[in-house]
Amino acid sequence: MAGKTKILFLGATGFIGGSVLNRLLKHPKADTFVITTLVRSPEKAKLLEKLGVTAEIASLSDHDKIELFASRAHVIFNAAHSDDLPAVLAMLRGMRKGHETTGQLPVLIHTSGAGELIQRAPSEEIIYSDLNIEQLKAVPQTAIHRNVDLAVISADEQGYARTLIVMPSLVYGIASGLVFDAGIAKRVSFMDVTLIKAALDRKRSGMVGLGKASWPYVHVDDVAELYIMLFDAIRSEPPSVGHGWEGFYFAENGHNSWLELGKAIGQALVDLGLTENAEPTSFTDEELMKYWGSVVRLSVMHSSLTII
Ligand SMILES: NC(=O)c1ccc[n+]([C@@H]2O[C@H](COP(=O)([O-])OP(=O)(O)OC[C@H]3O[C@@H](n4cnc5c(N)ncnc54)[C@H](OP(=O)(O)O)[C@@H]3O)[C@@H](O)[C@H]2O)c1
Repeated sequence: MAGKTKILFLGATGFIGGSVLNRLLKHPKADTFVITTLVRSPEKAKLLEKLGVTAEIASLSDHDKIELFASRAHVIFNAAHSDDLPAVLAMLRGMRKGHETTGQLPVLIHTSGAGELIQRAPSEEIIYSDLNIEQLKAVPQTAIHRNVDLAVISADEQGYARTLIVMPSLVYGIASGLVFDAGIAKRVSFMDVTLIKAALDRKRSGMVGLGKASWPYVHVDDVAELYIMLFDAIRSEPPSVGHGWEGFYFAENGHNSWLELGKAIGQALVDLGLTENAEPTSFTDEELMKYWGSVVRLSVMHSSLTII
């Protein structure tokens, strides 16, 4: 095991996490990795073991286990949950222990989300850049994902970890590869699924308001490549990789409006013979609560966001 990179992976059964794990399994240096995943499904744990990955049964509430496995890892991928502060704090406690025991600097590649940048009461359109550190520092503490991201950055500032935060926008695409073929991970994004399920339920594609709000999007393969690029870079050339406040990495390859998205879903419904009209209609307030049930999600969908 000497010289091997010990990787702890959370979120292996998810859309983004599965796509990243796929790439780690096919990585040219895969035989130098020892990968441990924490998963809550015993069935999926068995399937993961068949791919040569150690799978421990643990949920994000098993803080002792998270801390223990984090204390042993050189690199942690967290693609499980952007908002579970207690789980992330357990991970950070483990990383601190690992650092104090070995003197090494463990790396955390954490998953946040571009929703953090939404302005609740926009007075002017802001274009966010992950190179603009002052702009990133000015994001209000009350923004979604923010409390977790601040805890992650604090670990970097305290010097016991190197932290990188991937901020995906709306991730789309159908994920593919070993982990998905084996039935371990979800092939589609929960965000797309909610919109499509709502359209199927109301037999007409929908949008928020007039659908004018525009959002960045990114293909799942591009997001996954970003994690691997960061992972490769921080192992081969650590000083070249921004971390802490300089370690936010936006994932975006275009912007579109909810109207455009609604039209695409509507056209798919027409093509499948499920409805005759591809034009989306505005969700009523009752529908928005029924399908999303969260004020936070709704405010995100009403607001535009531009990132570069
Ligand atoms: N998809 C997007 O468009 C998007 C955009 C921006 C940010 N994000 C953020 O990225 C993260 C991952 O997104 P995703 O689309 O890959 O989500 P996903 O497909 O739902 O995957 C979530 C992963 O986290 C695991 N997980 C969730 N809660 C858990 C718990 N309490 N205990 C143990 N495991 C738990 C899931 O395990 P199970 O299989 O056991 O459920 C799964 O492996 C999310 O936090 C999301 O907010 C996603």
